[in-house]
Amino acid sequence: MTAVADAAQAVPERHYTHHDGRGATPHRSNPAVIHRELTTLDVQAGMNVVEFGTGSGYSGALLAELVGPTGHVTSLDIDAYLVRWANLIHHERGLDHIRCHVADGTAGFAGKAPYDRMVAWCTPPLLPKAWADQVADGGLIVAPLPIATVPNMTVIAKIRVSGGEPVVEAVFTGGYIEATGSPKDNLDLPGRWVDWENRTPAPSWISIAWRERDDRLHTGARTALARLLKDAHTEPYDGDELDWPSWRTFAAVQADPQLTMAGLSPDLWAIGHSTATTAAVLQQDGTILADRSDSPSLSVLRNWLIAWETAGRPTPESYTPALVPGAEGWDLLLAR
Ligand SMILES: C[S@@+](CC[C@H](N)C(=O)[O-])C[C@H]1O[C@@H](n2cnc3c(N)ncnc32)[C@H](O)[C@@H]1O
Repeated sequence: MTAVADAAQAVPERHYTHHDGRGATPHRSNPAVIHRELTTLDVQAGMNVVEFGTGSGYSGALLAELVGPTGHVTSLDIDAYLVRWANLIHHERGLDHIRCHVADGTAGFAGKAPYDRMVAWCTPPLLPKAWADQVADGGLIVAPLPIATVPNMTVIAKIRVSGGEPVVEAVFTGGYIEATGSPKDNLDLPGRWVDWENRTPAPSWISIAWRERDDRLHTGARTALARLLKDAHTEPYDGDELDWPSWRTFAAVQADPQLTMAGLSPDLWAIGHSTATTAAVLQQDGTILADRSDSPSLSVLRNWLIAWETAGRPTPESYTPALVPGAEGWDLLLAR
C-alpha cells in the first residue's frame, strides 16, 4: 500500500465530511482526487506542511497522518465556521500537530514558514509570490492554477521551488473552486471573473476575457449573455462525445482575447467566443449556441473545434507549461 492509501485507511472520511454536529458540508472535494494530489505532493514523515482550503477538514487529517506526530500541518480557510469545526474534529481525534486558521490562503501563512510542502484546494488568480517565498528550498507546491482569465479553466500544477524560483514539473487535469476574499455559500456561481449574472428567471452568468475593453455597465457581457439565452441559434456538436478537460484546455491555449465562459443552465458550463455584438459557445451537453447561424463568433468556435479534433484532442498533461513572472506572482501558460 502507498503512504496515501494507508493514511486514507486511518482517517474516517465521513466523520469529517458529514460530521453529526456540523452536518454535511458542500466544501469538500472528491476523496479520490484528494488522494491523487497528496500522492503528487510526496509528503514524508516529519515535514512542515501547509494547505489552503480546510473545508471539511478531511484533507488536513490526511496530511496530519502523512507527516506523523513529528511533523506539523497548518491549514487555512477563509470560512471561520469551517475552521472552528475542523479544529474541534481534529482535537476530538487526538491530533495536536495540525492547526487550522481563518486567513486568506493567497497570502500564504508566513508564521509557520518555511514549508516543505504546500497544497491548495482553491484556485488563486495566479501563483502568488508569497507562496514561493514561503516554501523551503527544494520544496513542492501542488495547486490548481488558471490557464486563462475566465473561471473553470485550470490545471493542477506540481511546482518545485529552488532558490525562491518556482518551476513547473508537471500539470494534471483538474481544478477546485476559486479562492475568494470572503466565505461563499453559493457554489453555483464562480468566485472570480464573472462579468455578468442574472438571478431571474433562472441563474445564468458569463465571463469574458476581454472585460477590460467592456464599458462600466458591462454592456458587452450583458449583450453576449442575453443573445445566448434568448432566441439563440442552436445546433448539436456533430463530433464524438465531448472530452471536457481536453476541450477546455485546448480552448484556453488558443489565448484568444475574446475567449468566453458561461453558465447558461444549472451545472452546465459553456466555452466559446464573444464580441460586443456576437457570441457562440459549446455547452458541456454538446449543444452549440450562437447569436445567429452566421455569427462570426460561431465561425471562430467551429475553427477551434476543427483544430482540436485535428490535434487529436490532446490531454492537459501533454502541454508544455511555463510560468510568466509579474508583480504579484506568476501566470501559468500552456503551449503545444
Ligand atoms: C474544495 S473546498 C476544500 C475541501 C477540503 N480540502 C476537504 O478535504 O474537505 C475549498 C475550500 O477553500 C476555501 N477557500 C476559498 N477561498 C479561500 C481563500 N482565499 N483562502 C483560504 N481558503 C479559501 C473554501 O472556503 C472551501 O472551504
